[in-house]
Amino acid sequence: RRWSRSSHRSAQCSSSKLTLFSPSKINLFLRVMRRREDGYHDLASLFHVIDLGDSMDFTPLPGSGSDELTCNIADIPTDGSNLVIKALNLFRERTGSQQRFRVHLDKRVPHGAGLGGGSANAATTLWAANELTGRPATNEQLLDWSGAIGSDISVFFSRGAAYCTGRGEIVEDVEPPLPLTTPLLLVKPPVGLATPAVFKALDLERRSKADPLELLRGLGARGAIEPELCVNDLEQPAFDVLPSLAELKQRLTDDSAGRFSAVFMTGSGSTIVCAGSDEVPPFLGQPDCADLFVTSARLIAREAGAWYQPSKALA
Ligand code: C5P
Repeated sequence: RRWSRSSHRSAQCSSSKLTLFSPSKINLFLRVMRRREDGYHDLASLFHVIDLGDSMDFTPLPGSGSDELTCNIADIPTDGSNLVIKALNLFRERTGSQQRFRVHLDKRVPHGAGLGGGSANAATTLWAANELTGRPATNEQLLDWSGAIGSDISVFFSRGAAYCTGRGEIVEDVEPPLPLTTPLLLVKPPVGLATPAVFKALDLERRSKADPLELLRGLGARGAIEPELCVNDLEQPAFDVLPSLAELKQRLTDDSAGRFSAVFMTGSGSTIVCAGSDEVPPFLGQPDCADLFVTSARLIAREAGAWYQPSKALA
């Protein structure tokens, strides 16, 4: 029965194409609570979706061949190791759909950046596949399923501000703790960081002792980012893996003349978030900084489905 429903839908939508905005995220704080038996770590982190994002085109393909993925960046794998393909396989497995897709990924979010760009692509793919096959799944099901292919995909089914626990896949919507207009400047060195390497370098003895619920309350109560609230237990191990990142954070903190209210790393790096202003400090214009990725960004929140709509113009 499932099969005939989905094949009927695939015939219906074979001429349709969806172009969607695939956002990214920052972690306003990230506490690592414990190392687990399965090799993962339990986290307690405040994620916030942001308006830096990729553009993705989805076209249903006739027949039962393979999915086709293309990308504007040559070194992004487009085979079964890409989370987009994993998301399509997961969607078909859970819904019984047979629909194949052509997907073009126009990447703006850097890779190995702690911004969850690849995870957002997977979430956007689940959302698109569901739309283009007549919505066999609810948003809650897509959120539940997404944990099977990665730890920080689920957050992209939240409303934008989410307190995440477990591996990161247990998502609780919270009121946006900060005004969405809070200016952010993101600065990333050309070198990215691989999440497993950063977790491996983590020394649990050197973690923060801050209570994550206190951090959450503190941000909400004060409505402004303050450095002592933007704790990231992955910062020290990331600096151990990539010492120049510690220098970059120090320079952004020192050279910014009080411009930023807080400077902190997101996720497992290597992006440093500067909050409170998106004015570019003069030192970033010097030749030794020419290869840094620098962009301004804003926090975003949504009503159901909104950030996946083709509403975001990508300049
Ligand atoms: O789940 P995901 O594939 O994004 O995780 C990549 C790697 O990061 C895991 O294999 C693990 O080494 C590490 N990780 C972890 N604890 C988490 C999330 C990720 O140790 N909560």
